[in-house]
Amino acid sequence: MYLTKAEEQILMGEEGEAKALAMNLLVAIGDVYEARRMIRVQSAQISGVSYKTIGEPGLEFLRELSSKGAVASIKSMLNPAGMDLVRWRRLGVPEDFAGKQLEIMECFGKMKIEPTCTCIPYHACTAPAKGEHVAWAESSAVVFANSVMEAYTNREGGPTALASSILGKTPLYGMHLDEERVPGYDVKVKCKLNSDLDFSLLGYWIGENLGSRIPRISNLKETPSRDQLKALSASIAASGSVPMFSMREGIETEKKCETATVDRHELHQISRSLSDDEEFEHICLGCPHLSFEELKLIATLVSGKDMRRKLWCFTSRHVHEIAERSGYVGSIEKAGGDVICDTCMVVSPMREMGVEGMLTNSCKAAHYSKSLNRMATGLMSLEGCVQYALA
Ligand code: F3S
Repeated sequence: MYLTKAEEQILMGEEGEAKALAMNLLVAIGDVYEARRMIRVQSAQISGVSYKTIGEPGLEFLRELSSKGAVASIKSMLNPAGMDLVRWRRLGVPEDFAGKQLEIMECFGKMKIEPTCTCIPYHACTAPAKGEHVAWAESSAVVFANSVMEAYTNREGGPTALASSILGKTPLYGMHLDEERVPGYDVKVKCKLNSDLDFSLLGYWIGENLGSRIPRISNLKETPSRDQLKALSASIAASGSVPMFSMREGIETEKKCETATVDRHELHQISRSLSDDEEFEHICLGCPHLSFEELKLIATLVSGKDMRRKLWCFTSRHVHEIAERSGYVGSIEKAGGDVICDTCMVVSPMREMGVEGMLTNSCKAAHYSKSLNRMATGLMSLEGCVQYALA
């Protein structure tokens, strides 16, 4: 890969050990993917924030990097941590876990990375402009950024996003190139998609069946909302490695573009594969994190009622603040629900917090709760989940 004189000097350690480490990593990745050169990125979004997912080796890596003077050089944000950083005690997070998590946050703080702790950075922070290059790691946000915001990002890992945060650069390959963003599959949707859950099921089916080829989704009866596109993005990324989708009519496709059709039957099969026939005490919403509109809807549905089961609503601190000012957080909590920030149902120590199974509206949450947390899961739409919590 071609490096400028300045980049070579960084690689040789002339600007310190932390920058040299970061450059080494990006050059190694660039060489693997035959990148031509480095390009500038406007922001970085870093995964691997929860102590549950990175453990002691990850914490040690962050301790070392922050002690070597690593500092973000561009706008840099974090994926969800392993707990609500304010109310963790009340939610039953074990003390030793919390201690480790707070140390992780301290390391990121030393590196001047904003403690956004959300997988919807496009809601919580400055959203990337159309055509902007970024280095984001959260898989659902990557699909959303490429497909809905028309920004350019590869699906970064935590370390490469951190390296990009330090250097403000990324190797030019993959989703940063227009020629790599051409759909190779035409997905015709043969049924009406009625809810957020239907979009989540469609995304899961696409990820599971189309490998890494970019789908062009067509034949939708109605224009999807942003929250439905958010659900679609998350589940595409959960079951497969597709980094983007397109819904643009008339967009050019690969010459060997194939066609796939999806009907209610396929969506039903996905739903069955992620559902256990059980009663659930916990209902978890917010994978990806809930938007202001979703919190408003939940607040409206529960207003003046009493929850019979535990309803946990996960969102970003930024969205929480706005929803709190509007009274929606208060309405949900008055009915007996909890609005939880900074974390989610997958990366927090749910079992240690007494959760053994959950009902959710997200295929991504169900997928990882089953595979990583070995939990029983059930699927319903957001409205269905809220009604279940009240029933
Ligand atoms: Fe976000 Fe956690 Fe789901 S990071 S996309 S809420 S698994």
